[in-house]
Amino acid sequence: MNHLLGIRDLTKENIYSYLETSTGFIEVSQRDIKKVPALRGKTVINLFLEPSTRTRASFEIAGKRMSADTINLSGSGTSVVKGESFLDTLETLQAMNPDAIVLRHAKSGAAHFAARFLKTTSVINAGDGMNEHPTQALLDCLTLKRHFEKHGKGIEGLTIAIVGDVVHSRVARSNIWAHKTLGNRIKLVGPRSLVPKELASDRCFGANISIHHNLAEGIEGADVIMVLRMQRERQNQNFVPSIDEYSKVFCVGEKVIEAYAPDSVVLHPGPANRGVEITGALLDSERALVHDQVNHGVAVRMAVLFNTCVLDNDNREAA
Ligand code: NCD
Repeated sequence: MNHLLGIRDLTKENIYSYLETSTGFIEVSQRDIKKVPALRGKTVINLFLEPSTRTRASFEIAGKRMSADTINLSGSGTSVVKGESFLDTLETLQAMNPDAIVLRHAKSGAAHFAARFLKTTSVINAGDGMNEHPTQALLDCLTLKRHFEKHGKGIEGLTIAIVGDVVHSRVARSNIWAHKTLGNRIKLVGPRSLVPKELASDRCFGANISIHHNLAEGIEGADVIMVLRMQRERQNQNFVPSIDEYSKVFCVGEKVIEAYAPDSVVLHPGPANRGVEITGALLDSERALVHDQVNHGVAVRMAVLFNTCVLDNDNREAA
């Protein structure tokens, strides 16, 4: 089956191919009648076993705009709460012959686990614990591509600063893999407890990565500043003395950016905690491309569904 489990498995060509297909789908959402028949007759199950607003809504909208039959299941509405195992839930859903299961799960590796056991259904990872969130990285890359294109640039040769709770963030991991593959320089910024130096070791992300525990030094010279939410639901101990202490030192605002990375743009995957990791003023400013990110998220998910449910079936039949 063709799965999308992580960015780590993708080549540079794969990334550009997703971005190209996504670009073609942006226009569909701008039409009066926002629907194309590309996935007519296909069934997509969105299985969200962890909270989500934008990822879940945009996968559902993407499926519907492509004419797929989409159904949405959330943790509290499934038999998981009655004690059914995750594998039994997956196999039950597979028996209804969906073309794809879009899975969000609190445990790292859940998407790989599902892909290993499902024989006739493709798995699309919509975020697994602290591991990966591939469609988020693709929509971030698409947002950057469209932004830098306006300035006659591409998305290679950039410096990307990722600020905040890197260690618990699947958004950071997927983006790190993407920007490593694109050959970009990556600066990871935050307190030692959330950005340990081991992240830059060969056993982890290795080359092209530097670690910074000072915000100004970390964002200096960055073309892109990616701000992360504090993942309190994934922290089993106090990683910072208090949220107030964290914000005093690492909350990203316009002032520090003006001084150290005046030409940069800011991304945030949402949900943002205003005044914790990013100031409200910065989030609402033109520098922050957050609404473009959400908008492009629909196009990226249309492309991913198309690739999974149509292109790969065609490829298999041709093979
Ligand atoms: C992210 C997630 O759930 O991983 N949100 C999202 O999908 N847009 C980031 C987060 O929760 O902080």
